[in-house]
Amino acid sequence: MPRKSILILSILQAVFVAALAAEFAPCAVAAATTTPDGKVIFAQHCAVCHGDVGQGRSAVTSIAGPNLQAEHNEGNVLAAVEVGPSHMPSFAYVLSIPEMQAVATYVSQQIAVIPLTGGDLSEGGELFRAYCAACHRTSVRGGALAFTNINAPALTNKSAALIAGAIRWGPGPMPSFPPQLLTDTQLASIVDYVKFSQHPPNPGGTTLNFYGPSAEGLVGFLALFLLIGLAMWIEKGGKG
Ligand code: HEC
Ligand code: HEC
Repeated sequence: MPRKSILILSILQAVFVAALAAEFAPCAVAAATTTPDGKVIFAQHCAVCHGDVGQGRSAVTSIAGPNLQAEHNEGNVLAAVEVGPSHMPSFAYVLSIPEMQAVATYVSQQIAVIPLTGGDLSEGGELFRAYCAACHRTSVRGGALAFTNINAPALTNKSAALIAGAIRWGPGPMPSFPPQLLTDTQLASIVDYVKFSQHPPNPGGTTLNFYGPSAEGLVGFLALFLLIGLAMWIEKGGKG
């Protein structure tokens, strides 16, 4: 290639690179200086399922999400946004990492208004038996609501945040319990009790799936009756 054209080419190249740099420079600067606004991201991407202030939305259509007002753990929120647990979509390809962090900070610091402190385990047990056990059973394993044909779910795998959120929110057929009915401390007590009951101390013997106050002796007794009956029935068959 003649020298002249090499020169022209390199000049052209320089101009092109300069133009490119000029084109992208404002963009790069803007990205580096503006921190994403967690509140705006929440309104755009989360409120549709979790409600404007994270109060929760029950499933009328497929768009529903639990109450987030006791979700104080920023790491939990970030994990949920990234992974998308159960019916929640993952935002890994929708939001940038700084955006996911901003919305996680916003949820754990602004949306999470239910304090989860100062609870008392035994008070929680009494309150649970008074307000929740009718549907969720004393041992938090859930039960059928005879009158509505709907199951109150077992609470064995629910996080503290989901339990507290559900109490204030009242998902679906469950009533909500506003602060006039249960104070923040009473709510914290119930959460403590449910968390405790998820892993009750086991004194030994069979737990009968923690069915509640029915002695395993009774179950043994009924089984014995069955065996006697069976033996008598076989005996009768043998003679005839
Ligand atoms: C399409 C509806 C939908 C959208 C949009 C949505 N969520 Fe969710 N989210 C859910 C559902 C449903 C669950 C309950 C998942 C489960 O059962 O474990 C949930 C659970 C969560 C949890 C609790 C996870 C746990 O188990 O402790 C957090 C925190 C959360 N979402 C945050 C967010 C944030 C922040 C956004 C916005 C970036 C968002 N969600 C957008 C539906 C949604
Ligand atoms: C009238 C019956 C009833 C009572 C009383 C009741 N619940 Fe529920 N609860 C339900 C039903 C039904 C659901 C399932 C709602 C749904 O799936 O939309 C539920 C759901 C829940 C959930 C799951 C929420 C989630 O996001 O997964 C928790 C936690 C819970 N209840 C805790 C409680 C506590 C604690 C109390 C007492 C303060 C209580 N419930 C009182 C019927 C009841």
